[in-house]
Amino acid sequence: MLDLDSWPHTPHGVLLLTLLLGLPGAATQDLKVIQSEKAVSVRAGESPILNCTVTSRLPVGPMKWFRGTGQSQQLIYDFTGEKFPRVTNVTDVTKRNNLDFSIRISNVIPADTGTYYCVKFQKEADSDKEFLSGGGTVLYVLGAATQDLKVIQPETSVSVSAGESATLNCTVTSHRPLGPMKWFKGTGQSRQLIYSFTGDKFPRVTNVTDVTKRNNLDLSIRISNVTAADTGTYYCVKFQKEADSDKEFLSGGGTVLYVLELKTSDTAEILVAVFLVPKMLLVIGASAIYAYKKQKA
Ligand SMILES: *[C@@H]1O[C@H](CO)[C@@H](O)[C@H](O)[C@H]1NC(C)=O
Ligand SMILES: *[C@@H]1O[C@H](CO)[C@@H](O)[C@H](O)[C@H]1NC(C)=O
Ligand SMILES: *[C@@H]1O[C@H](CO)[C@@H](O)[C@H](O)[C@H]1NC(C)=O
Repeated sequence: MLDLDSWPHTPHGVLLLTLLLGLPGAATQDLKVIQSEKAVSVRAGESPILNCTVTSRLPVGPMKWFRGTGQSQQLIYDFTGEKFPRVTNVTDVTKRNNLDFSIRISNVIPADTGTYYCVKFQKEADSDKEFLSGGGTVLYVLGAATQDLKVIQPETSVSVSAGESATLNCTVTSHRPLGPMKWFKGTGQSRQLIYSFTGDKFPRVTNVTDVTKRNNLDLSIRISNVTAADTGTYYCVKFQKEADSDKEFLSGGGTVLYVLELKTSDTAEILVAVFLVPKMLLVIGASAIYAYKKQKA
C-alpha cells in the first residue's frame, strides 16, 4: 500500500514543489539595491557615473562600492567620508531621505574595466556584515587602440524548468558599426535564427527592453514556455550593414540553455507528500491516543 522506501525522498519532492511554485521561503525584504545599468561604456579620460539606488535605508549600516567579487574584491568607495582619490559621491548621502548611492569615477583608464557592485552592509557590534548586493555594472573603458564593440553574454549557462520562460542576457558596448543584432541557436550551417531586433514577429521570443532607445545597450531576450527541444547554445550576434546584405561582424561567447524536465515519478512523489503526509500524521496521532486510553483502562 504505502511504499515506505519512498519516504526519505519526499522532502526532496516538497522542496521541488516549493521551488516550482515560487513560494517565498523567508519573509521578503523591503530593501532592494538597484544598479540600473548592466553595462556602461566610456572612453579613457572620461568620468562615468555608476548608478545605484536603494529602496530603503534599513537595515542600519553603510553602503560600499566594490570592484569584482570573492577573494579579488576590491573596495572602491564607502560613504563614510574617507577619501578615495578618484571616486566621489554624486548626491549628499548624509541627507536622511537620500536613496541615491551613485558614484563618479574620474579620469578612467582601460585598467578600470571591470564589474562594480553597490553593496549594503548591516551594522553589527564587532564588524559590519554584507547584507545585499546590487546586480553589478560592467564598466568598459575603451583605449584609443581597442576595438569599440564587445558583445557580452554574461551567463555561460542558464537552466529553467520546462514550461517556464528563459531570459538570455546580452549587452553590447556600442551600437557601432551600424547594423542589426540577431540571436541564433547553434553555429555554422545548422544554426537557426531565434530572434532579430528588426520588428519581425517571433511567436515565443520577445525583447526584454526597448532596443529602439538610443542608449539602450541591452539586447537580452526572453523565450517563453520552453521545452526540452529548446536546450542548446544561443549566440547574440552583431551584423554590419552592407549594401547588398548584412555581414556577420561579432558574436557573443554563447549561453547554454538547459531545460529541466519534471519527471512523472517526481510528480507522483509530490502528490504522495501533499495528500498522504497529513493523513498519515492523523493516523499516527489517533493510534497514539488509542494506545494511551487502552493503557489507562
Ligand atoms: C544614471 O542615472 C541618471 C538619472 O537616472 C541618468 O541620467 C544617467 O544617464 C545614468 N548614468 C549612466 C551611466 O547611465
Ligand atoms: C540577466 O540579467 C539580469 C539583470 O542583470 C539578472 O537579474 C538576471 O538574473 C540575468 N538572467 C539570468 C538568466 O542570469
Ligand atoms: C520591445 O521593443 C519594442 C520596440 O521594438 C518596444 O516598443 C517594447 O516596449 C519592447 N518591450 C519591452 C518589454 O521593453
